[in-house]
Amino acid sequence: MAHPRLYSGMQPSSGSLHLGNYIGALQQWRGLQQDHDAFFSIVDLHAITVPQAPDVLREQVRTLAAQYIAGGIDPDRACLYVQSHVAAHAQLAWLLGTITGFGEASRMTQFKDKTARGGQEAASVGLFTYPILMAADILLYDAEIVPVGDDQKQHVELTRDLAERFNKRFGPTFTIPKPRILADGARIYDLQDPKAKMSKSADNDKGIVWLLDDPAKTAKKIRSAVTDTDGAIRADKESKPGVTNLLDILSAMTGTPVADLEAHFDGQGYGVFKTEVADAVVAELAPVRERTLELLADPAELDRLLAANADRAAEVADATLARAMGAMGLR
Ligand code: TYM
Repeated sequence: MAHPRLYSGMQPSSGSLHLGNYIGALQQWRGLQQDHDAFFSIVDLHAITVPQAPDVLREQVRTLAAQYIAGGIDPDRACLYVQSHVAAHAQLAWLLGTITGFGEASRMTQFKDKTARGGQEAASVGLFTYPILMAADILLYDAEIVPVGDDQKQHVELTRDLAERFNKRFGPTFTIPKPRILADGARIYDLQDPKAKMSKSADNDKGIVWLLDDPAKTAKKIRSAVTDTDGAIRADKESKPGVTNLLDILSAMTGTPVADLEAHFDGQGYGVFKTEVADAVVAELAPVRERTLELLADPAELDRLLAANADRAAEVADATLARAMGAMGLR
């Protein structure tokens, strides 16, 4: 029997993934690709909803492809490709935009968060319609499962609503996808501000662990993480967000449940705890960083792989787009 279809993607909008992307997305993907027919995209069309320098963007696309592979995505098994190489994404996004309510799109909390500082007037229309493009990504591949961190849950729910609406209005066309979100580690927080999610746009670089950071720098950032004065190593999101975040991180790195970690650290101090977290993160990320740098030494090979996979992706996407256009009375 065919494996269930799975779809996810990340933006090439920084020079490196951070630990939140790694735990919330890449680590999950790695396991899921074994028994799913997986498509993983590099969503460059999403990245340009905020200004990007063309040369830098081109480099970041390659760097992200290398991080996917170094992080364990098997390019012979999963289809790893660049969104803009497949024209159907932008085309289906237009069709879906015509059945999306303006009010419905206005309720997306990520748009509100992203425009909180600069104001909505300064934002591009592309940033506003971004979730509709994400719906197109998912629906083009008939994905049943979409593994993401919890900040993307509302966008996957919008995707479900749009697919159901389309099917009702125009006849069965799209598969209804489900988000897949981890119980622990769905949201990794900033090391310096553990109530805010770890995010590439944070002001203070000290709170972000970058995959491609030098290991000594990573260890230092973790040892300097903000905790509290209570001294106990136990999970409590409300009153001990810093310690809870470090427990989640260690749990994701080692596969040990948080409750077992609490027992392990019973009676220990924060110094010992932070050193163990730092060692575990470095042990996990240092090989990924090295492999990424090796892959980047041969950009022609990465480009060849991305071109071949774009053809594979376009075959699936074009068939779905034709179905949707036909259903709407176009073509
Ligand atoms: P992006 O590029 O912001 O993030 C990529 C993935 O990383 C997860 N993530 C986190 N997980 C845990 N803790 C954090 N602090 C953290 N920060 C980010 C995100 O939830 C995401 O899974 N719109 C998407 C990209 C996208 C997409 C798609 C995803 C475009 N089309 C189709 C799935 C399916 C985004 O901007 O992710």
